[in-house]
Amino acid sequence: MVNKEYQIIARNYELAGRASSDIKRTLRALSADSYFVKRVCSASYEAEINIVIHSVGGYATFQLDDHQVILEFFDDGPGIIDIPLAMTEGYSTATEQDHSNGFGAGMGLSNIKRSSDIMEIDSNPEGTHLKLTFFMNGEHHEN
Ligand SMILES: Nc1ncnc2c1ncn2[C@@H]1O[C@H](COP(=O)(O)OP(=O)(O)OP(=O)(O)O)[C@@H](O)[C@H]1O
Ligand SMILES: [Mg+2]
Repeated sequence: MVNKEYQIIARNYELAGRASSDIKRTLRALSADSYFVKRVCSASYEAEINIVIHSVGGYATFQLDDHQVILEFFDDGPGIIDIPLAMTEGYSTATEQDHSNGFGAGMGLSNIKRSSDIMEIDSNPEGTHLKLTFFMNGEHHEN
């Protein structure tokens, strides 16, 4: 049983990815299957970077038990106005600066959906809440 929390700071590119790296380290130390680690960490990285580049900041929680990993991401806005549009591959509101940092292909949310077993997203101007569930055993069907 693991329960961790990570602060995510807006526009801090130096710390961006820190939560995902720790999650990767933790899962590897527990000898989790490498495909499982890969899909948890790629989703986690995309969600973490989204908070860094698109929000005013937030935090993530990581819960692990014998059967599943649950990742939750909370930020303090400005929220996603149109979730189906934001989920569309290639749609991005990233700035020139984000692009020069290598972000903004508009693929993050669709990759998260593909990597996770359950993706729940709630958003309003006060903030976005993303909850991702990954089942350890059994087959993963790419959504
Ligand atoms: N936490 C968030 N807060 C506000 N808007 C968000 C958030 N996450 C995503 N979005 C919006 O959804 C769009 C699509 O997100 P997605 O992660 O798919 O692509 P991207 O971040 O623009 O580019 P990429 O992830 O490929 O680097 C973003 O451009 C942004 O407008
Ligand atoms: Mg993104």
